[in-house]
Amino acid sequence: MKNIVLTGFMGTGKTTIGKVLAKSLGRNLIDIDSEIEKDKGIKITEIFESMGEATFRAMETEMVDKISTLSNVVISTGGGVVLRQENIELLRKNGIVVNLTADPEIIYARLSGANDRPLLNVADPLAKIMELLDFRRPFYQNADIIIDTGDKTPIIAAEEIIQSAKLMN
Ligand code: S3P
Repeated sequence: MKNIVLTGFMGTGKTTIGKVLAKSLGRNLIDIDSEIEKDKGIKITEIFESMGEATFRAMETEMVDKISTLSNVVISTGGGVVLRQENIELLRKNGIVVNLTADPEIIYARLSGANDRPLLNVADPLAKIMELLDFRRPFYQNADIIIDTGDKTPIIAAEEIIQSAKLMN
């Protein structure tokens, strides 16, 4: 089977579902954000703060380029990876792109209490979630499989992904 690449907005379950998927398939899970943090020795929030989003996006593409050469892994991406067409093209070469979705209110509830999402560090995070989702919707739709995680446990969502991915091989 090709790589399984999870895309989706923050809080749609990429990391949690990625872990379940990797375990069920007996594969390694590679998280692009964690790889950037390891490689640069600095947290994503600090990259945004001290170097800005544009620098982060360049680091993200550099890491996508490297990770997309792997095979037989589950790849969890950062929520903004879809913004560059180049990233999706690289990830799709050897991967099935699975977009995870959830309603803004669910995303908001899942992320409440988290302080590691620099883009949501604003006065009205729910409004910001809605604004970003509206803008990004067409980018997220550029996927092979779309799964709504709002009403599913991670195990059910992972099972659905495995079944859909099997049909694509
Ligand atoms: C981002 C999502 C984050 C992280 C960065 C930017 C985004 O990843 O890459 O804060 O632009 O949506 P998660 O989706 O894993 O939270």
